[in-house]
Amino acid sequence: MSSEDLPTLTHGQGSRVHGTDGREWIDLVTGYGAVFLGHSHPQVTQALQWQAGRLIACGRYPTARFDAVEALLATVLPAGLRLGGFASSGMEAAEFAMRVAATHTGRSEFAGFGRSMHGKSAMTASLCWANAPVKPAGLHTLPFVDAQEEPAILEALERLLRARPIAALFIEPVQGTNGAHRASPAFYAEAIRLCHAHASLCVMDEILTGLYRTGPAFTSSTLAVSPDMLLFAKNMGNGFPVSAMALAPHVQVAAQALPGSTFAGNPLALTAVEATLTAMASLRMGALVQELERVARDQLGRLQERGIQLRGQGALWCLELDQRIDLPRALAGIRDAGILVTCNAHTLRLLPAATLDPAEWADACNRIADACLAARVLKA
Ligand SMILES: Cc1ncc(COP(=O)(O)O)c(C=O)c1O
Repeated sequence: MSSEDLPTLTHGQGSRVHGTDGREWIDLVTGYGAVFLGHSHPQVTQALQWQAGRLIACGRYPTARFDAVEALLATVLPAGLRLGGFASSGMEAAEFAMRVAATHTGRSEFAGFGRSMHGKSAMTASLCWANAPVKPAGLHTLPFVDAQEEPAILEALERLLRARPIAALFIEPVQGTNGAHRASPAFYAEAIRLCHAHASLCVMDEILTGLYRTGPAFTSSTLAVSPDMLLFAKNMGNGFPVSAMALAPHVQVAAQALPGSTFAGNPLALTAVEATLTAMASLRMGALVQELERVARDQLGRLQERGIQLRGQGALWCLELDQRIDLPRALAGIRDAGILVTCNAHTLRLLPAATLDPAEWADACNRIADACLAARVLKA
């Protein structure tokens, strides 16, 4: 959807958002995946209103909110990982991870996989994106599974780890901004093992996937080897800007890593996290997401082999349209069907809230499929 076509929004409730023109939309953008329990969630809204009347920002002074959130996170983090600190955006957490890895290893070079998303700061954008505007030295981009086979990528990783003083390898387990490409669990486990064999750290960026987006609380908890650092953000605050880092026992945050920033861990952000995690604990998150996955496969599977590739997992789905589909026409059809989606190059991304009613999700998937098929370019 080009910016000219974007509706101006006024408010949202659950998975529906409303425009100034009175139109209602099914929201499959959900604030780029941040609003995982739906807009204006009553528990989160009420908690934020209460906290906003008491204390919003207080620098590094501790508050009761911090202890509550730390205790809640301890129940969902992968075994052995502990909370390492808060930030306000995904990029800020990724930058923080770079500083921690650099001080821990005494090295200052980093590796990542092509077209993974870790943020838009000069360092995080340059790690994986060829078109980043700034090119800091010491960043190495390896091919990912959309470009090469797993064994060849692992060989390239090992060569790099031997040749360069890599402080950390960054992994985005499902490339949410690049067509939902993902490698096998064995690949990730081997990549982490290689890092450890070469005294490098592995940072798992679950800023999008963390807290049930793909089904399990974290992809990292399903792997045979644990990463050294885990980043998570979007699902944690149900739309409120907040991010966090978890650390393995052997990784410490040294003062030289410059932890904290003006808004990091502010009581309002932590209130959003506490309310969101409490609400999640009362829901069967895994089951909700599994049902969304079943519906997506049922309703969108029919598009495969018809000019459209379906990739994804849980509540993260991408449709890659080839030249047989007229993209502007498909987008117009989806918009006319009252559905908001994001589109990056030729890929549509669907990020439903976990709380979206499965029947409404099925209906939205069906309408999207119909709009794509109606936009097929027929050969003369
Ligand atoms: C996996 C991942 N990492 C990092 C980021 C950057 O987060 P932010 O936009 O909050 O800086 C994103 C954003 O989409 C992301 O999906």
